[in-house]
Order: sequence, then structure tokens, then C-alpha cells
Amino acid sequence: MMDDGVFLPRDLPLWLDAKPYLDVRNNDEHTIVAYGLARALLAETPEADESVVLPAILLHDVGWKRIDPELLLLAIGRNPTRKDLVRDHEVHGVEIAREILEKHRPKGVDIDSVLAIIDGHDTTKQARSINDAVMKDADKGWRATPHGMRTICGWYDTDLATHIETLRQVSNPYMLTPAGRAIAEGMCAAVTAELQIGTYMGGPSHD
Ligand SMILES: [Fe+2]
Ligand SMILES: [Fe+2]
Repeated sequence: MMDDGVFLPRDLPLWLDAKPYLDVRNNDEHTIVAYGLARALLAETPEADESVVLPAILLHDVGWKRIDPELLLLAIGRNPTRKDLVRDHEVHGVEIAREILEKHRPKGVDIDSVLAIIDGHDTTKQARSINDAVMKDADKGWRATPHGMRTICGWYDTDLATHIETLRQVSNPYMLTPAGRAIAEGMCAAVTAELQIGTYMGGPSHD
């Protein structure tokens, strides 16, 4: 049922054109989940403009396609050695996103406002506007979603507890809206509690 689809009908043509650029490093799956998260954040953040945030989150990572796949994991993670590639994917991303947006000219979407927050979405840490803040929270908040946790633990061959500890250390300052902080912290708290179910449910130590 199309009405239940995560993407707004307005954004479906953008998704179809973005998809071929997102088949690196799970970016396609990351984009779908982050878009869903963005919609939830927008519902709690009425001052933000969905016509900027949603096309931007949909297109924000298309630029990774032009980066050498061998080097991708060096650009992210706890100790990135190729931060220059992070900037490169933003610049390529703006170029590709502009082409896609100008082809479709989605109704009510201000293309320059969308491109302005794709540019710098990872290399600027502060909220440059409320739209930028919601888009960044959807992007970074993905790491705290079940999908993000599974994916990232797979990349680094790490366990959930370690991943959550890293998230709490490095990501907390990056969550910029009250809704973003609540969602990310809620998911981390829930998974942390889940990991302790065995401890509290009995076993030899309770005898
Ligand atoms: Fe990015
Ligand atoms: Fe992203």
C-alpha cells in the first residue's frame, strides 16, 4: 500500500534516481531508515520544514558512490584517517543531488535549501538551521536504530554493548534536537536493558 510507504509520493522519483548512487556501504538501507527517522523527528519538530529535510536526507549520501570503496571505512568510525574523503562525498553529493532535483523539480521543494544542508552535513557539527539539525539527527540517529546497530557492529566486528558505549561517548554531542536526543537515548537505553535481561531473569548467580 503506497500510503503506508516510508517515502512520500513526492520523493519516490528522487529515490529511484538516487538508488544507483547508494549501493555502496549499505547507504541505500541507511537512507531508507534515516528517512523514516526524519519523518518521526519532523512530527516532533513543527518548526522544521519537511520539504527541505526529507529530500535532503534522501540525497545526502549519494556522493559516496564516487569515493574509492576500498577507502570508505577509513573515512568514518572511531579513528578516521581519511577525513578528506568525508568532505569529498559532500561535494560530489551536492553535484549529483542537484542533477536529480533539477530533473524532477519536485513541487514545493526549494532546491538550493536542500543542497545547502547536504553540503557540510558531516563536516559541520553545529546546527546551521533547524532543518539542518533535524537532517543531521536523522542521519546520526540512524546509528542508534536496530538497523544501524546491526550494520555498524558488522562493519567493525564489534558487540552491541561496545557500540552503544561509543555512541554515548561520541554521538551525544552530535544529537542536536530534543526529539533526536530522546529517540537516540531511548533506543540505547532499551538495548542496554535488553542485554541485561539474562542477568535479572535468574540463573546460577541467583541461587
Ligand atoms: Fe554523509
Ligand atoms: Fe548518512
